[in-house]
Amino acid sequence: MEPSYTVRQADLNDINEIMKINKICLPENYSFDFFYRILSEFGYVCVVAENEGVIVGYVLSRIERPFTSFLGVQNSKGHIISIAIIPKHRRKGLGLKTMKYGLKKLIDHDVETIYLEVRVSNVAAVEMYKKLGFYIKKEYKEYYRDGESALVMEWGKKESSEMT
Ligand SMILES: CC(C)(COP(=O)(O)OP(=O)(O)OC[C@H]1O[C@@H](n2cnc3c(N)ncnc32)[C@H](O)[C@@H]1OP(=O)(O)O)[C@@H](O)C(=O)NCCC(=O)NCCS
Repeated sequence: MEPSYTVRQADLNDINEIMKINKICLPENYSFDFFYRILSEFGYVCVVAENEGVIVGYVLSRIERPFTSFLGVQNSKGHIISIAIIPKHRRKGLGLKTMKYGLKKLIDHDVETIYLEVRVSNVAAVEMYKKLGFYIKKEYKEYYRDGESALVMEWGKKESSEMT
């Protein structure tokens, strides 16, 4: 039988599980305090994916107000900080499902643009982001500690059709 997955808003009780998955899946790891700060402030746009009540993936985001438009209005930007699905549950559509839930939360909070950084070698993630309507905006040379470059990918409300 195919496993069934649910996604829900993350909360502070999820930090330990999120940290475990982050360590298994990514070289970019953060302190408990970092996760605590993100979830305290931006838990409403962070998501966990569950299989039979066990957390198997997450998407952490925050909302930034980095610039003022020519009309003097603050434009909010969503920033996807970290996303991972544990290996056993990959290639089943869960990355897309979890991201869509997180992106919708950001959009519901008046975010017009969403961006993220991804390693140039991370084909799986880049392909998934493209499926969600992200495009490559620029490259940061030697962005990561090991010297690898990052692609900055962006999603724009204006450019993208409805995300379903
Ligand atoms: C990137 C990641 C979240 C994708 O999760 P997932 O649950 O496997 O993704 P999905 O099953 O929803 O796949 C969505 C699409 O992404 C692309 N994709 C996913 N894995 C891929 C792979 N190994 N190779 C090529 N494309 C891949 C495909 O286009 C796929 O659609 P398809 O299955 O119809 O071909 C997962 O591989 C992961 O956790 N990787 C480690 C952490 C990471 O790299 N995070 C991103 C940091 S920026």
